[in-house]
Amino acid sequence: MNRKGSDGKTCPVAQYCGGCQLQGFSYADQLETKQKKVEELLSRFHKVERIIGMDDPYHYRNKIQVTFGYDSRHNVICGNYVQGTHQIVEIKECMICDEKANQIIGTIKNLIMKYHISVFDERAMKGCIRHVMIRCSGMGEYMAILVTGSPSIKNGEQIVRDLLKRHPEIKTVVQNINSRHTSMILGSRNRTLYGKGYITDELCGLKFRISPSSFYQVNKRHTEILYAEAIKAAKLKGNEILIDAYCGTGTIGLCASKSVKKVLGVELNRSAVKDALINRKLNHIENAEFICEDAGKYMEYLAKQKTHVDVVIMDPPRTGSDRKFMSSVFALNPEKVVYVSCNPVTLKDDLNYLTRNYTISKIQPVDMFPYTEHVETVCLLHRKRK
Ligand SMILES: C[S@@+](CC[C@H](N)C(=O)[O-])C[C@H]1O[C@@H](n2cnc3c(N)ncnc32)[C@H](O)[C@@H]1O
Repeated sequence: MNRKGSDGKTCPVAQYCGGCQLQGFSYADQLETKQKKVEELLSRFHKVERIIGMDDPYHYRNKIQVTFGYDSRHNVICGNYVQGTHQIVEIKECMICDEKANQIIGTIKNLIMKYHISVFDERAMKGCIRHVMIRCSGMGEYMAILVTGSPSIKNGEQIVRDLLKRHPEIKTVVQNINSRHTSMILGSRNRTLYGKGYITDELCGLKFRISPSSFYQVNKRHTEILYAEAIKAAKLKGNEILIDAYCGTGTIGLCASKSVKKVLGVELNRSAVKDALINRKLNHIENAEFICEDAGKYMEYLAKQKTHVDVVIMDPPRTGSDRKFMSSVFALNPEKVVYVSCNPVTLKDDLNYLTRNYTISKIQPVDMFPYTEHVETVCLLHRKRK
């Protein structure tokens, strides 16, 4: 494998950071690696189409988060933990993250030093700034989230004022309070310091609200391609009842809503469902419902009610789906299932089960995460004729 491909830029902290597992490989070789991985796991089910790569595999991430700490000379540093440790490797410019978001992080670090704000010490559980997260929309709106271990930020008003002066593209600044002993970045309490507390993105021609903790795909350019592949695979005619399972903030279902009679979205995370309902309203969509429930339980309920379902689009987490969900798919017996997966290993296990009643007619890998080992796959299944 060529680790020094001509088109492959190399990140100076690659060996410590651990964020990108395919650093040093040319982009062509990264795509080849992912193609082979999907083929090894899935080609026994059906031919695997050529992976859809990005034209420009850099600066695609719309969400960046860094941890703050001190170096051995007590200088403020920010970056990622060295893999398997709690030692911070300083990152000045992440090559897969949005470029302006990188600059905003640099400005926040300078302001923390200028105003002598303390940095959180996780051993002593003392100090203020713990992490900073920047989220941005494709419409040029930025959200800065200051994650603090303490309830207040000394000179908070001046920091926000200076930050906005330097970066007018920041539309909202949120303080997230996380004083717990945890490896989770965000705590449960948000305090809006400036703006509305959320930003808005446009995806597949619809508007979506991004709040500090809501799940939102990190690569907007390729999310549009992924969703288009999933919706195109379903060949919708306009009269279908479609289930958007594991729907997050309702993005896939809402994008498909104009092509079906009704969308039923199900998602376990309460705040994501709240966002899905807001997104429905924001786009004046009237044929979509969103339910907060375990997807398997909800499918069981629909099967008991003998609900008619034509298409299921399922996009489970990396752990894959479960028997309760998949056996209810069999009971509901939709004509088509579109499985969107971020983990081909669990996809293989789930296909082993689903192919008892369904045949696979397309497997399409999509590279949503260049420079990392992750790969997304869209798989179309048709009900077997009895
Ligand atoms: C890969 S994300 C997909 C989200 C959405 N389809 C999108 O494209 O933004 C998986 C989603 O499944 C949700 N989830 C995880 N376990 C679940 C379960 N048992 N039932 C319903 N939703 C679940 C997660 O909260 C997450 O929002």
